Amino acid sequence: MRLRYVEGAKELILAHPKLIIDNQDNSFIDLEKIWNNNLPIHIEIGMGKGKFIYALAKNNPNINFIGIERFDSIIVKALYKVIKEPLKNLILLRTDANDLSIIFKPRSIERIYLNFSDPWPKFRHIKRRLTNQRFLKMYQNLMTEKSELHFKTDNLELFEYSVEEISNYPMEITYLTHDLHHSAYIGNIMTEFEEKFTKLGNNIYKLTAIFKEEHNG
Ligand SMILES: C[S@@+](CC[C@H](N)C(=O)[O-])C[C@H]1O[C@@H](n2cnc3c(N)ncnc32)[C@H](O)[C@@H]1O
Repeated sequence: MRLRYVEGAKELILAHPKLIIDNQDNSFIDLEKIWNNNLPIHIEIGMGKGKFIYALAKNNPNINFIGIERFDSIIVKALYKVIKEPLKNLILLRTDANDLSIIFKPRSIERIYLNFSDPWPKFRHIKRRLTNQRFLKMYQNLMTEKSELHFKTDNLELFEYSVEEISNYPMEITYLTHDLHHSAYIGNIMTEFEEKFTKLGNNIYKLTAIFKEEHNG
């Protein structure tokens, strides 16, 4: 995603602490204090402008959602949506995915969505891929039993890499398609990138997976 400086983004973020957390000091976030209910928590990591998670939160009031993105200039686009129409069950979090194990309590997240994650094509950057086993290990600690990881992309190389990483981890792939839009999968919500790449005629690949072993977190 091309990064453009957005004037006033940081000020707008800081002016809306109930809608967006700017996790500048990487401190622990007590999600129980934010919602004070026992609803499951689903997160999207690298949500971009937030179209997907906003629609998901609107359609699913019995689930709490957190949209995570690391850049002010991008997350502010999602913030515009929640300022216009706040949803009780959606908060935004500006942080880097690398810090999530410090920010959230172990076993606090019931589902993780990764949509069109950055492919990091150079071999020396492979550890930055959000489906690298380094991240899978972190997700495992964060997630509750039977939690699902949902991943979709139009990038075949990243998809095949992710299938391999997941298959070589104590995880089980529970769903896989190489053509999501012509599959039997029900309830897909398109992301911004998905709309763009679908218009270009690209196939959308999707998988869901669960962790096999007892959590060690
Ligand atoms: C290619 S965009 C996809 C955006 C959106 N999910 C979609 O499908 O339209 C990937 C997004 O993930 C964000 N991202 C990448 N690595 C991240 C990380 N380590 N932590 C948080 N966000 C990250 C990027 O800033 C970018 O906005």
